[in-house]
Amino acid sequence: MIDTPEKERTVSEPQVTSPLATASAADHYAELVHSRRSVRKYDAKADFDHDVVQRSLELATLSPNSSNMQLWQFHRVVSDNKREQLAQLCMGQNAAKTARELIVITTTPYKWKERAKRNATQIREAFAGREDATSKRAVKYYEKLIPFVYRNDRFGIMGAIRKVLVAYLGRKKPMVREVSKADLRVCLHKSTSLAAMTFMTAMRAEGYDTCPMEGFDSKRVKQLLDLKPKDEITMIIGCGPRAEDGIYGDRHRVDNSEVIIKH
Ligand SMILES: Cc1cc2nc3c(=O)[nH]c(=O)nc-3n(C[C@H](O)[C@H](O)[C@H](O)COP(=O)(O)O)c2cc1C
Repeated sequence: MIDTPEKERTVSEPQVTSPLATASAADHYAELVHSRRSVRKYDAKADFDHDVVQRSLELATLSPNSSNMQLWQFHRVVSDNKREQLAQLCMGQNAAKTARELIVITTTPYKWKERAKRNATQIREAFAGREDATSKRAVKYYEKLIPFVYRNDRFGIMGAIRKVLVAYLGRKKPMVREVSKADLRVCLHKSTSLAAMTFMTAMRAEGYDTCPMEGFDSKRVKQLLDLKPKDEITMIIGCGPRAEDGIYGDRHRVDNSEVIIKH
């Protein structure tokens, strides 16, 4: 039995027992996706169970994320006072003002060393006594490649050097080109966005609604929540029970043929 490091969780997959179960899961999922809308007005009188937010965020942490670095945080703004202040910083949008809880999703780039170490340790322990080429490669990935890509200076000079290096090395073989400081920011926001989607889908599954928002004053929000200077806010999600007139219009999308392209 291998000791898992403190707070490390091993998540087992639920068993899909039959093709029938798969079919109904697909139907349920399609129903969820269709019924999720960005809700801009929440019912102030309906019951709202804040435990559902906690549960949904716990599911969100199971989202795929780059190199399993988990460089994210989910700040729950529950108290009336903070919520009202935050709603003002969301430019007074209805989706924020009427929300029963607001979630501020952030990236935490400065935790990369600790997370890389944790992942390397986890692999070492999992493969203790039976190390093979794959496990050695995985450890090397966290101990050599991740530091190479994640280490940055204030001005992004190291990233610019990496960019030149991969352009040179990539002349004759495939290379990952996104190695600058800005690329790393994008990388972290991709993972937090996927977590946001898991959260919103989980909330819908519980009968509640959400609205993702990027219309906010990030500087003031960081001050309000006492966030670190290097924390970056991906989005703020308002949530609660949908008001009858909470959806502002029909859902519109461009034609699928314009955006789904087969090669
Ligand atoms: C990154 C992001 C930022 C958004 N910001 C806002 C926002 O600030 N205010 C708002 O009312 N809706 C916001 N939305 C919601 C979109 O307007 C909405 O998803 C889109 O119109 C499609 O509608 P639907 O979500 O109901 O399908 C945002 C959505 C995303 C993904």
